[in-house]
Amino acid sequence: MNLLPGGCPVNIRKFVTPEIIFGQGALSQIGESAARSGASKVFVVTDQGIIEAGWVDRALYYLRNAGLEYEIFSSITSNPKDLEVAEGVAHYLRSRCDALVAVGGGSPADSAKAIATLATNGGELQDYEGVNKIRHPLPPMVIVPSTAGTGSEVSQFAIIVDHQRRLKMSIISKSLIPDIAIIDPELLNTKSPRLAAATGMDALSHAIESYVSLAATPLTDIHALSAIRLIFGNLKRSVFDRQDAGANHNMAMASLNAGIAFSNAILGAGHAMTHQIDGLLDTHHGETNATLLPHVMEFNLPVCRQKFDQIARQIDEISHEQERKGDFSERAIEAVSSLAMEIGMRKSLADVGLKKESIKTLSQNALNDACLVTNPRDASAEDIEKMFLKAF
Ligand SMILES: [Fe+2]
Repeated sequence: MNLLPGGCPVNIRKFVTPEIIFGQGALSQIGESAARSGASKVFVVTDQGIIEAGWVDRALYYLRNAGLEYEIFSSITSNPKDLEVAEGVAHYLRSRCDALVAVGGGSPADSAKAIATLATNGGELQDYEGVNKIRHPLPPMVIVPSTAGTGSEVSQFAIIVDHQRRLKMSIISKSLIPDIAIIDPELLNTKSPRLAAATGMDALSHAIESYVSLAATPLTDIHALSAIRLIFGNLKRSVFDRQDAGANHNMAMASLNAGIAFSNAILGAGHAMTHQIDGLLDTHHGETNATLLPHVMEFNLPVCRQKFDQIARQIDEISHEQERKGDFSERAIEAVSSLAMEIGMRKSLADVGLKKESIKTLSQNALNDACLVTNPRDASAEDIEKMFLKAF
């Protein structure tokens, strides 16, 4: 019997999300949320940038108000590494915390999930690579994203770099879904324009890949399409005016919707390929996704025309005449490409820093990434190599 990631037969679907608290000032709920999850001493996973932006101080204030003790762990870099996670696990166990709170982008969030996994299940992270390998329940987790892109606050994914193999491991398990996601659009104000652009394109990749995924359902489609509409309506404004509260609010909602969609419908070849480059070059995940996405869409086009039509309808007014003639699916690909260029994403993988001689190995490695299983069109190593070369 064919099984999808998550272990479901192809004709059965499940849909899971954490409790979601959304809105301006929602960070104030972090103490009460952690206490309600059963915490007495909280392990706060974050990074230096978030500390400097002042968000951790605010979070600690609310944790203290809720009567909670805490320990801070901030030795996390962009594209979190297995070695950083190992350090975090030792720190977590030493400090006798009983819950985790992540404040930051995808790196602190995925690291908190990985630390929680090893602290309660033991072994090495590599033991949990793939789908549904986590056996024992994790401690309570509350995640507060500071970017509009990762979706980790609602997802069953943790993506961690294996420093020896120099690739990103996808760990996928329902156990990784946090107990509570707190989304406060105010936290987006302190992001740089470049980070806003890259994380926004990551969210768009989540939305498009999950919408055309083999595991997509009507429940995930609603969220994916809503995310696509919001991103095309707000990402440029959010990048060019970082203080535009309306655009930031809508991008936070878009990222949340895209996260719910991809957590349940999984992703596709774009993420399977991006993970390989991120692991090798330590590039920004969103920028790599932005470069690859139009090429992956082009590869998927023959089996996705109707869905791409639907994506185009979220982006543009489609005239009566166009509707009558039908098939404006290529418009969706052009629009994604133009958006990436307009907000300053890189044109090619060569610009990202990739060397042509790495492409063969990366293509082989992408075949082992769990995200490839749900790509709507079967992709061989040769197909993947061709996509890499087109994006080069
Ligand atoms: Fe992503």
